[in-house]
Amino acid sequence: MTVLKELEVALGVRSYEICIGTGILADCGGRIANLVKGRQAAVITDSNVGPLHARTVQESLEQQGFAVTVVTIPAGESSKSWQQAEQILTVLLEQKFHRDSCVIALGGGVVGDLAGFVASVYQRGIAFFQIPTSLLAQVDSSVGGKVAVNHALGKNMIGAFYQPRLVLIDLDTLQTLEQRHWQNGLAEVVKYGVIYDAAFFHDLQTHSAAILRRDVAISAEMIARCCQLKAEVVALDETEGGVRAKLNYGHTIGHGLELAGHYQGYLHGEAVAVGMVLAARYAAQSGMCDPAVEAEIKALLQQFQLPVQVDKALALDEIVNGMLLDKKVQDGQLVFILPEAIGHVKIVKGIPQDVIADLLREELHA
Ligand code: GLY
Repeated sequence: MTVLKELEVALGVRSYEICIGTGILADCGGRIANLVKGRQAAVITDSNVGPLHARTVQESLEQQGFAVTVVTIPAGESSKSWQQAEQILTVLLEQKFHRDSCVIALGGGVVGDLAGFVASVYQRGIAFFQIPTSLLAQVDSSVGGKVAVNHALGKNMIGAFYQPRLVLIDLDTLQTLEQRHWQNGLAEVVKYGVIYDAAFFHDLQTHSAAILRRDVAISAEMIARCCQLKAEVVALDETEGGVRAKLNYGHTIGHGLELAGHYQGYLHGEAVAVGMVLAARYAAQSGMCDPAVEAEIKALLQQFQLPVQVDKALALDEIVNGMLLDKKVQDGQLVFILPEAIGHVKIVKGIPQDVIADLLREELHA
């Protein structure tokens, strides 16, 4: 195992480390064993990641004396469901998991959110570990404790803030990630630059070709920078009362697009990419930022071969309805994160839904 970076998410007694490196899966057992009393673990993974990595994790845990149950769910957003959570809970009950047992998420954002949700409710909460294997999960969803399942009436509507005990990021797992999923994660990477860090945004512009072809050293730096930013924000505002909301840049329209496509069209990051461009356009049209801001964001996303336009096959009313089901709607009013410049965004409440519907209509008829 080579550890390249260790970061802390500072949350008092619930503080935890993010460990970034290579060869980590094969050594995960020792690190997990140090943080739990029991020696019973459920590794939750999916049908894509399980065949590649579950055995390595299982063997490492068994070397530390763990009894390991591997639960493999079908890959894809539709697994982030109440029904799937119930099935996993049934396995934990059948296997007599107790309060000192633990749940380990081995996979991308769907697995992390679902496994974390299960850990948060099983016997009122048992220890939970994140081993994210997709770029999106490594730079965003594995850090910060947002766990949830989807409901037919909205994404992530049933969930909790429930922090992991440790996040183990093994960069080797990215080698087998499909290119589309690499690009999907890059949307969340661009987001950090727009919302907090202009210098990081410009580094992404400078190294975009190397990042797209997954240069190992540059990608490792990029992932560590994102985790650092996320750790700082979560430490400041764990439950999204303020600054953490900025991490939702591009997500209101993005969730509308995902829901309108019944999670079969855009991947999450792809939908967020389109949402970030449209939010920047709205900011420019309402005089909050220079139009060049939208152009710069759009150009970088295009460099990363991400979509920047709304899929014309989607229905306007379904996108709007999807947006209105978002958790960021307050008293029927949309809340948007809007850029003032690269590196600075503002939380703006009370945006009329008609204005956003007009923006989407123009896109659909362009
Ligand atoms: N993915 C946004 C957050 O964790 O707050």
